[in-house]
Amino acid sequence: MDADRLIASFHRAGQAQVFAFFDQLPAEARRRLLGEAAEIDLAEVERLTRTLLAQNAAEGVNLAGLAPAPYEKRPEHGGDPAAWARAKAVGEEALRAGRVAAFTVAGGQGTRLGFDGPKGTFPVTPLKHKPLFQVFAEKIRAAGTRYGRPLHWFIMTSHSNHAATEAFFAERKFFGLDRGRVHFFRQGRMPAVGFDGRILLESKASIVLSPDGHGGSLRALDRSGSLDLMQREGVGTLSYFQVDNPLVRSIDPAFIGWHVLRQSEMSSKTVTKAYAEEKVGHFCTQDGKTVVVEYSDLPMAMQREKDASGQLRYIAGSIAIHLLDREFVRRMARSTSSGQARSTGSAQGGSTDSGFVAALPFHRADKKIPTIDAAGAPVTPEKPNGVKFEMFVFDALRFARNPVVIETLRADDFSPVKNADGVDSPKTCREDQLRQFARWLRAGGAAVETDATGLPGATIEVSPRFGYDEDSFADAWKKLSPKPAVVDGLYLE
Ligand code: UD1
Repeated sequence: MDADRLIASFHRAGQAQVFAFFDQLPAEARRRLLGEAAEIDLAEVERLTRTLLAQNAAEGVNLAGLAPAPYEKRPEHGGDPAAWARAKAVGEEALRAGRVAAFTVAGGQGTRLGFDGPKGTFPVTPLKHKPLFQVFAEKIRAAGTRYGRPLHWFIMTSHSNHAATEAFFAERKFFGLDRGRVHFFRQGRMPAVGFDGRILLESKASIVLSPDGHGGSLRALDRSGSLDLMQREGVGTLSYFQVDNPLVRSIDPAFIGWHVLRQSEMSSKTVTKAYAEEKVGHFCTQDGKTVVVEYSDLPMAMQREKDASGQLRYIAGSIAIHLLDREFVRRMARSTSSGQARSTGSAQGGSTDSGFVAALPFHRADKKIPTIDAAGAPVTPEKPNGVKFEMFVFDALRFARNPVVIETLRADDFSPVKNADGVDSPKTCREDQLRQFARWLRAGGAAVETDATGLPGATIEVSPRFGYDEDSFADAWKKLSPKPAVVDGLYLE
């Protein structure tokens, strides 16, 4: 689209303010502003203004007919051991056939941690202080070796951290991975709008644009050509995890097996909530669909509800680990961007059984957004002055055929780094890694001194290249001779 037509479309959409200072700008700044404007889907902004913005922010999500979602229990909690063993064998077969790729969403801004730089570069392991990206890279490399098929790894970045992320991988020589199998792509951006629906400017020459949420990954996978690449390579399933969680079994054969056996289009892992107030999403059912309801949307009285056995009713917490079917992602990506779909403005999109019409809805977040006034002077608001829009990947669940939720053990899959101190901090994550290494060593017959929580006194580390889950660790440990003593500084590689 040429500049005049683009500017005219903003005028027609009632967004002329975006170009209010255009004539005063030098040529380079004009080009940049036009580039930003071209990213914006004006019809989408208009639709969101009509739906989400018109809604009272305090209205919340629709809780009608909500019930706890069923999930496959682990064998140690009453699940069927034979079914889990079968799932694992099927998952291993898929890995040997090269049908699975890893996918990390790393576009978030990591503001809570107060760390400057892409979150994946944050040092996290107890002894070697390896960054998050290195932990995942080594797990993915080791899984490729174990199953005889190197894996592709897709990494979603954002505009603000893309270059830094690529540079980090280049500097560290891709942690030994084949560069041709590591694929970076940027997620989309959404403009922020004032409460009147008008797009906000950051300066005379730039629009306030922010990442479109991890749900934007579905569109970005399609737009970047990643889905086509997967198809060419015979990869049908993406193993999705967040950049903040080094404990994650990034490649988990039993999980993959459940997904394959059930012909699921989107599968998820759950851990039982540690306490009622824990800040995780909740797996629920509604209208026969599986949904995740965020902690901020589920009334505390419901989060505290107990069943007859005294256990929390809404016990299944979401730890943001999923498997996604390639063609499901494509379908969602295309229907979200086609404009035919409608967001209801709540936690739901719409679907019909005949023909697929689905939309990943946007969620609004009211924020204090630095902007400029009509005269071009900077404004630093003291209370929220506008709205940012984000999509959440778990909202895709309600559109997936045969979704499966399986239980996992927190100690094996989940210890994120989110806050500088307290829960989900570098300290708790470090300790959970140490507990995991100690458990694996003990299971192999090593003498390890720990406290009552399983935390070893010695600072030790197991490289994912030695063992990245209990099976791979057990195999490597068995072969190791002589076996080292578990003392401070032990590093198994
Ligand atoms: C998230 C989940 C919550 C879950 C918890 C588990 C949401 C809204 N909530 O919470 O249900 O229980 O994790 O740890 O997601 N990201 C992008 N692009 C974006 C935004 C985020 O790539 O535009 C990535 C981040 O890099 C990160 C992940 O998504 O890897 C999670 O984002 P974050 O905002 O930290 O989610 P939480 O609020 O911690």
